[in-house]
Amino acid sequence: MTNQEIIAQADQVIIKTYGRYQVAFVRGQGSTVWDADGKAYTDFLSGIAVCVLGHCHPRVVEAITKQANTLLHVSNYYHTLPQTEVATFLSEHAFGGKSFFCNSGAEANEAALKIARKYSHDRFDENRTDIITATNSFHGRTLGTVAATGQEKVRKGFEPTLAGFSYVPYGDLGAMEQAITERTCAVLVEPVQGEGGVVIPPQGYLEGLRRMCDQRDILLMFDEIQTGIGHTGYYFGYQHEGVVPDVMTLAKGLAGGLPIGVMMARANVAEALGPGTHGSTFGGNPVSCSAALAVLQTIEQENLLQHVQDLGAHFLSGLQRLQQKYPFITDVRGRGLMVAVELDRLGGPMVLKAMERGYLINCTMDRVLRFLPPLVITQQEVDGLLTTLDGIFAEE
Ligand SMILES: Cc1ncc(COP(=O)(O)O)c(C=O)c1O
Repeated sequence: MTNQEIIAQADQVIIKTYGRYQVAFVRGQGSTVWDADGKAYTDFLSGIAVCVLGHCHPRVVEAITKQANTLLHVSNYYHTLPQTEVATFLSEHAFGGKSFFCNSGAEANEAALKIARKYSHDRFDENRTDIITATNSFHGRTLGTVAATGQEKVRKGFEPTLAGFSYVPYGDLGAMEQAITERTCAVLVEPVQGEGGVVIPPQGYLEGLRRMCDQRDILLMFDEIQTGIGHTGYYFGYQHEGVVPDVMTLAKGLAGGLPIGVMMARANVAEALGPGTHGSTFGGNPVSCSAALAVLQTIEQENLLQHVQDLGAHFLSGLQRLQQKYPFITDVRGRGLMVAVELDRLGGPMVLKAMERGYLINCTMDRVLRFLPPLVITQQEVDGLLTTLDGIFAEE
């Protein structure tokens, strides 16, 4: 089938929750994806930070295939080795925390919201229920996580959403201090805001949050769904600043393209969720967990975090050169391979031009071009995009 044939059929049967591009993808290998008409694109979005090892990485495919031939599913009433091994890797590389497995970022954040309330309920009383998040944050699309998300447009039309949330400007410690009340049980922030436009907080912000939360026994929760699994050049975004959270959520890149979500909590916090308090039928299924283990071990064995740091610096300096050339670029920023170019105009038309020229890039917050390539992207591929962007910018 061609792009047009797939799209025409989809128009009849798919609910239009996404403003989709007029293209259907049928195959991927490394950093390249091919559409149904056979056109190749270099993927600088990788899902949205999902295919961290690129498309169909042989180690991930092998792990999935082997597991699919061994055991697809058992209930979470039973233990499985792949789930245990992923939790062990995460615990050893994060803060010694314990994991709850689910299937997506929103579910991981739902688990975080629940553990925050339960921990506080057990330790204090039932009045300490409120959670503070940041303006322009993004935490998911379920009713609980749209309440957590600091963007009115994602809640509009779905009210009343879950009560007990307030939003403060990201990076503003004074605003957070003022927002905390005796009802606050947790603070939830992204270490770098992703959907909000790759916003890097001021130095000392996460540390300041840690201090405030410690003073009042409030849980500090980091949504690492976009920043986690290597994109910033560390396994987890918080590791840039060495500020350890009480709760961390992961999803997206963890299984390299299969659905997975994790809510990790420090051991004393994890105790709040005992048998019967939370669950998920598919959470931590053996196939997704085998993929996750392959992803994590490959990142480690191939020293990909160093590659991300080095290539991220190269990418950023290339974009900074473009900024000097084109005054309509108002900012260039990034951590590792989580990179953005802010414009004084809409970025959507540039995304379309990039697609015409064989590159998948993204625009968020209307004016921010966002790049989240697979961690295995090469310098040659980055340079190819820089040349293409130069050509696109020159037409403005
Ligand atoms: C920081 C962050 N949190 C949560 C989510 C929601 O994840 P999911 O779409 O897997 O539910 C996203 C997705 O973009 C995200 O970027």
